Amino acid sequence: MEDGEHEERWTAVDEYVVRQLIGEDAELDAVSAATEAAGLLGGPISATQGRMLELLVRISGSRRVLEIGTLGGYSTIWLARGLPADGQVITLELDAHAAEVARSNIASVGLADRIEVRVGSALRSLQELVAEDRGPFDLIFIDADKQNNPGYLEWALKLSRAGTVIVADNVVRAGRILDPDATDSRLGEGGLDGLRRFYDLLGSEPRVTATVIQTVDAKGHDGFALALVL
Ligand code: DHB
Ligand code: MG
Repeated sequence: MEDGEHEERWTAVDEYVVRQLIGEDAELDAVSAATEAAGLLGGPISATQGRMLELLVRISGSRRVLEIGTLGGYSTIWLARGLPADGQVITLELDAHAAEVARSNIASVGLADRIEVRVGSALRSLQELVAEDRGPFDLIFIDADKQNNPGYLEWALKLSRAGTVIVADNVVRAGRILDPDATDSRLGEGGLDGLRRFYDLLGSEPRVTATVIQTVDAKGHDGFALALVL
């Protein structure tokens, strides 16, 4: 098969999985539409990946979840769906407009009482969470500007305990991660380098054991890093 045919095939399989296992989701369709209408660019995860996040929250029995990078709140809502009634997501967003859109989306699906959106530089917000003694979190999802991924991982570890699950989005980028000359304009300046430094840190950090799950779906070929804090 040609590359394009593979892409068509895996997209068709993704649609099949959504039909078979996830089903119609009018709430999240409206969230996606509102996010697009607000002009927010960037990449929300696919529904199949969203369900994976929900499952990871449930499998780990997480009650306190931290998300770095909110955008319109699509992945935030999937994470919150995995929580028990007394669980909470704190999600960090740099852009005040995106945070407003996310708050509105979150309210529209009835999850405002379970999700706190904090606006500002995530590195600063993370420092504040440590100062406020808000950790440890049970699961941390990293999905913001990729050049800061190594710093996000370091702060995530400060906000972890043995057993914390750390997940990071976009660690494959259709294989561009392998090519030192590749650029990835959608990740911004230094994005691929940040991801490679993130791998270096993840691979050398004795406090975690980690792997990467490559994904092919409606969003193309990418992947999740999955780590457990020891
Ligand atoms: C893109 C996708 C993402 O998941 C992300 O976090 C940033 C950018 C993209 O493909 O544009
Ligand atoms: Mg992402």
